[in-house]
Amino acid sequence: MKPERYFAPCPRGLEALLAADAAAAGGVDVKIVPGGVEFAGDLACCYRMNLASRIATRVLRRVATADYRSEDDVYRLARGVDWPRHFDVERSLRVYVTAQRSPLKSLEFATLRVKDAVCDVFRDASGRRPSVNTKAPDVRIHLFLTAERATLYLDTSGEPLWQRGHKIAKVEAPLKENLAAGILRLAGWQPGVPLLDPMCGSGTFLLEAAQMSLDDAPGLGREPGEFAFERLRGFDAGLWRALRKSAAATRLPADTLPIWGSDLSADAVARAGQNLAHAGLDDLVSLARADILARAAPQPTGILIANPPYGERLGELDELAAFYPKLGTALKRNFAGWDCWFLSADTRLPKLIGLKPMRKIPLYNGPLECRLYGFRMVSGSNR
Ligand SMILES: C[S@@+](CC[C@H](N)C(=O)[O-])C[C@H]1O[C@@H](n2cnc3c(N)ncnc32)[C@H](O)[C@@H]1O
Repeated sequence: MKPERYFAPCPRGLEALLAADAAAAGGVDVKIVPGGVEFAGDLACCYRMNLASRIATRVLRRVATADYRSEDDVYRLARGVDWPRHFDVERSLRVYVTAQRSPLKSLEFATLRVKDAVCDVFRDASGRRPSVNTKAPDVRIHLFLTAERATLYLDTSGEPLWQRGHKIAKVEAPLKENLAAGILRLAGWQPGVPLLDPMCGSGTFLLEAAQMSLDDAPGLGREPGEFAFERLRGFDAGLWRALRKSAAATRLPADTLPIWGSDLSADAVARAGQNLAHAGLDDLVSLARADILARAAPQPTGILIANPPYGERLGELDELAAFYPKLGTALKRNFAGWDCWFLSADTRLPKLIGLKPMRKIPLYNGPLECRLYGFRMVSGSNR
C-alpha cells in the first residue's frame, strides 16, 4: 500500500522531539511545522505513532488539500473525497476546524459545509447518510485552514493521546502528559537518572518518568476499540495485535525507581498517589508531603523538575514574588549537584530566584506562553 501523509500536532516547542518520534515510528519525509510534524508513512507507522509517541497530541491522516477562498471551495474539497472508502455509513461523525488567518467569516459555517459534503457523498453512494455525534463521535474529521489552503484530515487517534487514562484524581492546573514528557526530554532526563518533582500536584512528571523508565508504551493503556483507527475501514487488526504484542514484550519488569515526588499539599500528594496506583506504579515511586523550601535532596546528584503555581490571581503574584528568592536560597543550600528545571509563565522568576539560568526554552502550555528555565546548582558557585 502506498504511504499516506500524516500530520501530528503537539504542544508548541516540542516539534523537534515529535520529529524524532515520527522517524522512530518509521515515518519518512518528516517535516517540522509550527505546532506539529508532517510525515509520510504506512499503516504500521500510523499505529506505532499512536502506540508509542509520548509527544503527539493526535495523529491525523491527510485525505484532501487545495487552495480555497470561500465556504463553497471547502464544500467542493470535501465533496471530492471518497468517504465510504474511509468509514462505514453506520459510523457517527464530527467535524472540527482549526484556522490560522483564514479569510472565512464563519468557521462554524465551514464546518457545516464539510459535514454536508460528507453526508452528500454517502447519500449518493448508498442512499443513506451518517449521523452526527458531537460528544463521542466514531470518526473525527479535521478541517485545517490557513490563509489560502484548506486541508482535510481523518483523525486516527480519537481522544487526544495525552489522555493516558491514569489521572483519575485531578488537581488545579495539571500539566498535559505530552508536555510533561517533552519537558523531561528537554531537560535531558533519562531513565535511571534520579528525578524529583517537589511540586508534584497530580503527579504528571512522576507518571511519565516512571512509564518511560519501564519502557511502557503509552498506548498500551487504551482499551480495544479506543483508537479511532480501529473504527476506520482498512483497519488491520492482525498488524495492530502484533505491534501491541511486541511493545508489551519490551516492557521492563517493575522495580523500585529513583523517582521522588512531594508537594506542600497533603491532598495533592494523596491524589498523585491515587494516580500512580491506577497506573500500577505506586510501589515504584516515593511520595511525601514536603515544602520545597525545606526538603532535602534524595541523592547527591539528579534532576529536579517542577511546575510552580502560575499566580494568575493578583495576591498570588505577590506571594510568588516573595517565594522565588526563598526558592533560590533553598536550591543553593539543598540541591548542590542537581540540575533544577522550572516551567513557568512568570517572566520574573529567573531574576527573583537570584540564579543565572543555563537554559531558557520557550514552550506553550496550551495558549499560555511559558519558559522552561534550567539552573545548574554547583556547590557554592551560584550568584
Ligand atoms: C501548578 S501545580 C503543579 C501541577 C503538576 N505539575 C501536575 O501536573 O499536576 C503547583 C503545585 O505546587 C504546589 N506547591 C505550592 N507551593 C509549594 C511549596 N512551597 N512546596 C511544595 N509544593 C508547593 C501546589 O500544592 C501545587 O500542587
